[in-house]
Amino acid sequence: MIRVWIVLLMVVSNLFSSSVVGLDNSTVPPVVNIGVLYSFNTSVGRIVKIAVEAAVADINSDTSILGNTKLNLSLQEDSKYRGFLSIAEALQLMATHTVAIIGPQTSTTAHVISHIANELQVPLLSFSATDPTLSSLQFPFFIRTAFNDIFQMTAIADIVSHFGWREVIAVYGDDDHGRNGIGGLGDKLAERRCKISFKAPMPPEATSEEITDVLVQVALAESRVIVLHTSTAWGPKVLSVAKSLGMMQNGYVWIATTFLTSFIDIDSPLSSEEMDNMQGVIALRMYIPDSKLKRSFFSRWTNLTSGKEGNGPLGLSTYGIFAYDTVYVLARALDTFFKQGNRITFSPDPKISQISGDSLHLDAVKIFNEGNQLRKSIHEVNMTGVTGPFRYTSDGNLANPAYEIINVIGTGTRRIGYWSNYSGLSIVPPETLYSKPPNRSIENQKLLTVFWPGETTQRPRGWVFPNNGKMLKIGVPKRVSYREFVSQVQSTDTFKGFCIDVFLSAVNLLPYAVPYKFIPYGDGQSNPSNTELVRLITTGVFDAAVGDITITTERTRMVDFTQPYIESGLVVVASVKKTDSNAWAFLTPFTPMMWTVTAIFFLLVGAVVWILEHRLNDDFRGPPKKQVATILWFSFSTMFFAHRENTVSTLGRFVLLIWLFVVLIINSSYTASLTSILTVQQLSSSIKGIESLVNSKEPIGYMQGSFARSYLIDEIGIHESRLVPLKTPEETMKALEKGPQKGGVAAYINERAYIELFLSSRCDFSIVGQEFTRNGWGYAFPPDSPLAVDLSTAILELAENGDLQRIHDKWLLSSACRSQGAKLEVDRLNLKSFWGLYLVCGLACFLALLIYLIQTMRQYKKHSPEELESSGHGSGSSRLRTFLSFVDEKEDAVKSRKRRQMERMSYRSTSEVGSNIISNKDLSLSSTSLNRIDSANEV
Ligand code: SER
Repeated sequence: MIRVWIVLLMVVSNLFSSSVVGLDNSTVPPVVNIGVLYSFNTSVGRIVKIAVEAAVADINSDTSILGNTKLNLSLQEDSKYRGFLSIAEALQLMATHTVAIIGPQTSTTAHVISHIANELQVPLLSFSATDPTLSSLQFPFFIRTAFNDIFQMTAIADIVSHFGWREVIAVYGDDDHGRNGIGGLGDKLAERRCKISFKAPMPPEATSEEITDVLVQVALAESRVIVLHTSTAWGPKVLSVAKSLGMMQNGYVWIATTFLTSFIDIDSPLSSEEMDNMQGVIALRMYIPDSKLKRSFFSRWTNLTSGKEGNGPLGLSTYGIFAYDTVYVLARALDTFFKQGNRITFSPDPKISQISGDSLHLDAVKIFNEGNQLRKSIHEVNMTGVTGPFRYTSDGNLANPAYEIINVIGTGTRRIGYWSNYSGLSIVPPETLYSKPPNRSIENQKLLTVFWPGETTQRPRGWVFPNNGKMLKIGVPKRVSYREFVSQVQSTDTFKGFCIDVFLSAVNLLPYAVPYKFIPYGDGQSNPSNTELVRLITTGVFDAAVGDITITTERTRMVDFTQPYIESGLVVVASVKKTDSNAWAFLTPFTPMMWTVTAIFFLLVGAVVWILEHRLNDDFRGPPKKQVATILWFSFSTMFFAHRENTVSTLGRFVLLIWLFVVLIINSSYTASLTSILTVQQLSSSIKGIESLVNSKEPIGYMQGSFARSYLIDEIGIHESRLVPLKTPEETMKALEKGPQKGGVAAYINERAYIELFLSSRCDFSIVGQEFTRNGWGYAFPPDSPLAVDLSTAILELAENGDLQRIHDKWLLSSACRSQGAKLEVDRLNLKSFWGLYLVCGLACFLALLIYLIQTMRQYKKHSPEELESSGHGSGSSRLRTFLSFVDEKEDAVKSRKRRQMERMSYRSTSEVGSNIISNKDLSLSSTSLNRIDSANEV
């Protein structure tokens, strides 16, 4: 209260002061008032006071800045977290006609007094109010002379992402600084597909009990990555309580913001108890590049702090260095301000004057008329200070923000790397990277080995099962069909099957134990809907679901799936049967038209060759009847390349050559076609795939309980009245066998995994068309579950080491097509397919024999009636004997005549040509002549 009265008195005393500062408005004033609003009784406040005073002294003794004008410093203690008092304290400073205020210390106060700065146009320069929202357009007179916390939060998000964690818990003071900083962290984590899973706010300046209450909640949560964003004053107390709660052990990750490095730097050396409380913690420190200025400031610091009031050591934190530079920034901005011809003038705020009955005498505070120009000058400062190059970017933030990443180990700290807004995480100082193009590739993001809480260098997993000790409730579908995939072991709580074995093998690969219990889902009478099972995860009934659960779009909206452990798209199955093979199957390769055209061409080619040959070639000469026979014989014998007639003309040979090629193609096509007709199974239905199924009106079977039903209705557009649920493979088989005419189904749609099992013992059915979806099966977990990520890795490991295939073979190949033998049987050709051919051949033989017999009989009757009568053999058997001896005699006579003619012709040709050699042509001519003689004899 006393403080308020003092402020008000000050305000009143200033009511009558001049509205213009400086002796002469037209000249640069000899003294410029600047105020510092800070909590000087805190550890940070103590070093800030020293640094600011040192800077003012340095500037006042240096005529190169501000010439002979001196800075007049007014220090005003800030009552942290007392908003109202802070307002009064700020007004107090402003009533002394300060042109700028350095401070305040906290973002909470900065939010409050930024409104006053706006109204009175007095720039606020703060290096410790780092709340990102203070940079908003709402507070143009708030100028931050250190790094915006948004960069610190980006660095933390990069660290979290670098170590592969997905969720963090934020513990923070519930004030503007904590809330808004953590808000920024949430945004940055989201950009990296991570998130804050639990926000644990604490009252500012919380007591040990309040901290304990919050940390107990944190310990019960799933994540083990804790980001601590508090103030230097009470942040270390949180770590001490955490240590007492056993939260600084193996498995935990603590990432502290700059408050911790500030604490370590200022209070160094810390007691061993204080160091014990923070073993393994990672912390950030604003990065100040090494320079001569920095080194000399550090060496000067001891002199500056010696003999100063305060208890304990007074190390130099980055806040001290930024405080020093802040005074320089203001001095340089004022220098420019004056050089631009600006003056410092104040005038009453008409709006304050209008407040009727201003018993508070607020009109003591005046508007700094040239505040806007000074603000702009500050933003245009470009200098090299102790903190390094100092300039603002267009968004009002300092250029090239960077942090050191510190790991607390043993009795000290170790730098494990850097983070810069330019290039992310690195183990080399950021300024060495500025000359190179920014590189944020994963390989380029490096940190040195970290010693985590529990004195381990092994990266903590970052999460535990929530509600420690409780088992995961895993829902498992109680299938009634295809139980090879998953089925309950009778009268036990255990399950078996392919899906279960894969799950158990994957869980065994995890580097930690997973306590779980399987809970059956379904009535045991019909297949349960896996979509409903997955939905129960969202309502908390189950913590996960394991089984033959297809990964579908609808389900991924509700849960997270592991990597698929089996591929299983939807396919169409229809009945197949062999074409009913018959005796005339050999005619089917060609259509009647093809047969006709082929036959015509045989005759045509025969005729053409005869025309081309008969004048030159004796083979094509003779009586007309004989020539017709030659044409027929020649043309059809080319079918088997068995023609014996020689072709002598060039044209004849040309035609024959082309024709033989045509015959070759026709022959091979016929053979191929006949083979496929006789051996390959044919579909008995008209269904050729999903397209023809959609276009038909016939009923379609699907596995009851499967997602296929909704897929076929919603995605493919099949009317639900056409869909017939089929529970078991047996029911499916019957429905397919009946077909749509007898109340069955035209086709059955299910996933390939089931179908392979179904077809392994049912060879009368087959998959038709292509697989028309590309699904897989996975295990379902709540969204963002880290267990899903780890199990995915384990499943990939199973796939790579071959275990997945072994499990597949164990469950799904043991019943491999039992009817394989039957299938082979089906593929063997039998007489049924060929008796027609044998019949034709048999008939031809019979016909030929018959004709031969008739001809011989006619000759016998013509030449020997007298012989028969004179011999007196009248009985049947003696007649047959006589007939047979007649046939023999005739044949002998024909043979001896042939021989004599041959000898004659051979002698004649030898004597005519005068040569002993009988050429092949002669022989062929001779044989042709012989044939002609034979024919004449026969006639
Ligand atoms: N795999 C199918 C589904 O998930 C049937 O269980 O719906």
